[in-house]
Amino acid sequence: MNITECQEWKDLQAHYQEVKNLQLTDLFDADETRARKFSLETSGLFLDYSKNLVTEKTFNLFDNLLNALDFRERREQMFTGAPINLTERRSVLHTALRNRSNAPVLVNGHDVMGDVRAELEKMREFCRKVHSGEFVGYTGKKIRYVVNIGIGGSDLGPRMVTEALKPCHPPEFPKVRYISNIDGVALFDTLQELDLEETLFLVASKTFSTMETMTNANAARQAVLDHYSGAADSIKCHFVALSSNLERVTAFGIDPENMFTFWDWVGGRYSLWSAIGLSIALYLGFDHFEELLDGAYTMDLHFRNAPLRENMPMIMAVLGVWYSNFFGWETHCVLPYSQHLYRFPSFLQQLDMESNGKRVTTDGRVVTWSTGPVVWGGEGTNCQHAFFQLIHQGTRHVPCDFILPINAYHKSREHQQKLIANCLAQSEALMEGKSLDVAKRELTEEGLILKEVRRLAPHKVFEGNRPTNTILMRKLTPNSLGALIALYEHKVFAQGLIWGINSFDQFGVELGKTMAGNVLRELKLGVEGKRTFEDDTSTNSMLRWCMNNFE
Ligand code: F6P
Repeated sequence: MNITECQEWKDLQAHYQEVKNLQLTDLFDADETRARKFSLETSGLFLDYSKNLVTEKTFNLFDNLLNALDFRERREQMFTGAPINLTERRSVLHTALRNRSNAPVLVNGHDVMGDVRAELEKMREFCRKVHSGEFVGYTGKKIRYVVNIGIGGSDLGPRMVTEALKPCHPPEFPKVRYISNIDGVALFDTLQELDLEETLFLVASKTFSTMETMTNANAARQAVLDHYSGAADSIKCHFVALSSNLERVTAFGIDPENMFTFWDWVGGRYSLWSAIGLSIALYLGFDHFEELLDGAYTMDLHFRNAPLRENMPMIMAVLGVWYSNFFGWETHCVLPYSQHLYRFPSFLQQLDMESNGKRVTTDGRVVTWSTGPVVWGGEGTNCQHAFFQLIHQGTRHVPCDFILPINAYHKSREHQQKLIANCLAQSEALMEGKSLDVAKRELTEEGLILKEVRRLAPHKVFEGNRPTNTILMRKLTPNSLGALIALYEHKVFAQGLIWGINSFDQFGVELGKTMAGNVLRELKLGVEGKRTFEDDTSTNSMLRWCMNNFE
């Protein structure tokens, strides 16, 4: 289906002509209940979306579009295990991983909830053993460090969550490190810093074949073997696998007893709720891990049942489509005002861009409309002193999401009040801007002469009318973080559905991987002086330069 040809889309296009020149400040002046009408609270999160270029009609028209797309039925298909990942013929059931009800979830007639609960129990028991000192290193030392070796979804989610929830880490539980990059720096620095006898490596890879992860895991295994003078049974005391590939895990030498599994219906970027979350559970404790699942489950119920105008992920999804496809704005900025959430934008980049960075529809036709936006961001207030200039006064329009936990884990009310004030002030400034007249008046009041006022005033003008969402929460807890992550997961799902694309495959990363393998072979042969290069002339010349300078 060409979405842009359906009547509901055309109605939105016509509506865009009515809305595009509206001023947010006028909308607030015209309706003093706007802030209340365009905000909602669920799952411990409060969303204010009143500072968006929308009216009630915008949502009514999107509701029509969603009806035309059978949105409700298709949302239900995800929750009930239909194979909506059409290219890979898989169900998409990360929601089953945090399904806290007793309801079955069937995949090909099999209730996957039994498997999910059994694996959670195995994780709980393993955490108990590590925390109590029942599971120890080869020389009987308590595990004090957990090193997660994984990349992409097997890294970004758990890494973000453990950073975000650092204050919930009981000091007696192991500390956690993450190693992802093929640049050996992280691995070799970590190996030097930690006592291997107190270290547990989690090899986190759904496929157990990802080049970066397996290279790092093999090097870590060699380091452990070297440390124990080749004692092969040391591996089972220091390595655990988080994977769905039993064959490869066994071939690596990890005891299947030490393997925590998940299933092909869990996408990598949706996997932190599965065995891939073991580093979270070891670091925070299993109870906290369950609170994370609980928070996500609350948001799942909300997303599954609430009508559009009361549905937080849906509202954020249609706002994103509104700006991407009708206003033509290409990027979306995410700004957590929380140091603990500093990794949230990177996590979202994979979630959103690997899901919706697609150029064909589910039936293989090239889209004629834009799909997933460029997602970027950073933590406030640091980013105010970095890229905010462009957001306030640049020529591009960048819709922003501000995320603000109100209460901190530290005691300084002064810091927290200043953080809150800055966050709220940014969205206000982005909306209100500053006119030329006001800029001139302010400069005059500062005592500048008229010539200087005229020279400087244009530089002090803020166009304003820049739309933002703000998500508030009482505190960043496992529960509220679970809900926040699920909010964005469902937003991304809903947008993919509107755009008619498959949000659950990622073939786009394959070509680069294959070519890296070819280039590596050429580089190795070249270094041995065995052959000439057969790539394009630019790559050939760089390969030759690398080869000549490689020590
Ligand atoms: O980058 C591509 C990708 O397949 C991601 O989708 C995935 O999260 C990551 O690689 C890691 O994959 P694996 O868990 O199989 O090592």
